Amino acid sequence: MAESLAFSRGADRGKIYEEIVPQIAALVDSEPDLTANLANIAAVLKQAFGFFWVGFYLTKQGQLVLGPFQGPLACTRIDFGKGVCGHAYATRETVLVPNVDEFPGHIACASESRSEIVVPIIKDGEVFGVLDVDSDKLNDFGQLDEAGLRQVVGVIERIIQGHTNSGQLE
Ligand code: SME
Repeated sequence: MAESLAFSRGADRGKIYEEIVPQIAALVDSEPDLTANLANIAAVLKQAFGFFWVGFYLTKQGQLVLGPFQGPLACTRIDFGKGVCGHAYATRETVLVPNVDEFPGHIACASESRSEIVVPIIKDGEVFGVLDVDSDKLNDFGQLDEAGLRQVVGVIERIIQGHTNSGQLE
């Protein structure tokens, strides 16, 4: 079935998050495959906001391993505690970085990236993975993004019950 996304182009981000979160929930509720769902969520965020890079790193084999994403080629593996993603893994908190050059240990997968937000995805008290969003503009993320992306991750946290992070049902 063809899917389409409806959102108010040019509206403020808060309104767009309000519009897309229910559509993301509806999209993933009708599909059991986790990889397919994460791929479509990355596509929705890219389409709605035009972010430079949107994607997932999933906890596998003691590292964060690249998952579905939209944007330029990216680093495939990140050690826990390293970079913004590894910091979000270690702290289990959302990490908002207004200027990546000022974040000690930031991993520059692409030189165009200027600011970044990483939201951990928690399953059974463990970090299942992270949602990583990069912008090519400085200071591009704020409270609206933190709240909106947490809602998106909330949808993911609901659907990963019963999934392994290889995308298969347990
Ligand atoms: N900048 C991230 C690495 C992943 S890329 O941005 C896609 C980090 O420091 O963890």
